[in-house]
Amino acid sequence: MRRFLLLLTLVGASSLPRLIRRGKADVTVRRTTGEVLVGRGTYGRQSWTGQTATVFGCSGFLGRYIVARLAREGTKVIVPYRGLSEYIRHLRPTGDLGMVIPMEFDLRNPVQIEECVRYSDVVINLIGRNYETKNFSFDQVHVEGAQRIANVSRESGVSRLIHMSSICAKTDAQSQALVTKAFGEERVRESFPGANIVRSATMYGYEDELLNNIGKNKHFYLTVNNAQQKLRPVCVSDVAHAIDSIRDDESTVGQTFELYNPKEYTRKDIIDLVQFLIREKVWHVNIPTPLFRTFAKVADLMPFHYTSHHEIDMLLADEIPTGEPAIKTFADLGIQPHTLELTALQYIRHYRPSQHEEDPIEPKGYKAFRKPPVPACKVHLG
Ligand SMILES: *[C@@H]1O[C@H](CO)[C@@H](O)[C@H](O)[C@H]1NC(C)=O
Ligand SMILES: *[C@@H]1O[C@H](CO)[C@@H](O)[C@H](O)[C@H]1NC(C)=O
Repeated sequence: MRRFLLLLTLVGASSLPRLIRRGKADVTVRRTTGEVLVGRGTYGRQSWTGQTATVFGCSGFLGRYIVARLAREGTKVIVPYRGLSEYIRHLRPTGDLGMVIPMEFDLRNPVQIEECVRYSDVVINLIGRNYETKNFSFDQVHVEGAQRIANVSRESGVSRLIHMSSICAKTDAQSQALVTKAFGEERVRESFPGANIVRSATMYGYEDELLNNIGKNKHFYLTVNNAQQKLRPVCVSDVAHAIDSIRDDESTVGQTFELYNPKEYTRKDIIDLVQFLIREKVWHVNIPTPLFRTFAKVADLMPFHYTSHHEIDMLLADEIPTGEPAIKTFADLGIQPHTLELTALQYIRHYRPSQHEEDPIEPKGYKAFRKPPVPACKVHLG
């Protein structure tokens, strides 16, 4: 009897683990190698370059690509923000724990700016606006704000300042946003002689306002000047790559860069390209400029932003590179920009009707976009 009971206990005990069901979350974690990769070098998320950078304007379109580039290679990134911290929440997982550090700030407050740049080797200023608000005029953002950041950066001993501007920024431009950006460039130069000015053309990518606006408004896309504005669209990850290379290269100190597509397009060409890629007609309606401007001035009075007459002026500004030999471009950084025709589809495929969802990029019979005008380069999203 005792033997029988013992046997029963043994059988019971051995089947017990099988009776306790294991949940999916109870994965056994075992160390596979003895070495933990910590320290300098390119070891992915745990790498550490020893540098600190501050990226003003990080909540914008370009900001996320730059922060991601810096944080993933182990540069500590200070991300100053205003308003809600949700605006920059998406930046936090771009780097390892403690690598992306949010700090609240006000562009009008030099003390807060100083706190943001105190430990930084590099300051990148991407702040820019297409319309004015009650709180901020163009002057306050593009001129005073830019110079304040430059002043404070110089005083705190920051070694590199990269200031983002626009390829259309001219002191005699029609758009007030572009005029102030041009004055901002001058003030930044005065305050921080070694600063790099980056004058970029319109950028495209997942969150852009060029391809996506056309795709989104495919049934009713408003244009001015018969969509004849000249554009040199550049891929946002190319611009981020360029800014990262400028930061990396001591020999670029004080240089001005213009980043633009080697090929010139009109807005109409871009509409045609989107139309072709999404396999659907884009209904674009041309509005006489004075009428659109009046409408936008009324929209300016609204408590929320819909459009602004400053943005209508920007739709009339042609993107024409200066072409001066002193001004550097992608080639000087050894970067081959992406070809618009070959990369645009991934950003707008979701505007296609479902039966064309999986169509490849180049169907037979379409001539205009069949041969890319510049050599194609590897599709890479940074
Ligand atoms: C504008 O400024 C006022 C007063 O300084 C402030 O209460 C408000 O939150 C600001 N609005 C924005 C959008 O920053
Ligand atoms: C920046 O510094 C210059 C002189 O170094 C001064 O004239 C200018 O007012 C300062 N600008 C701002 C916005 O602090």
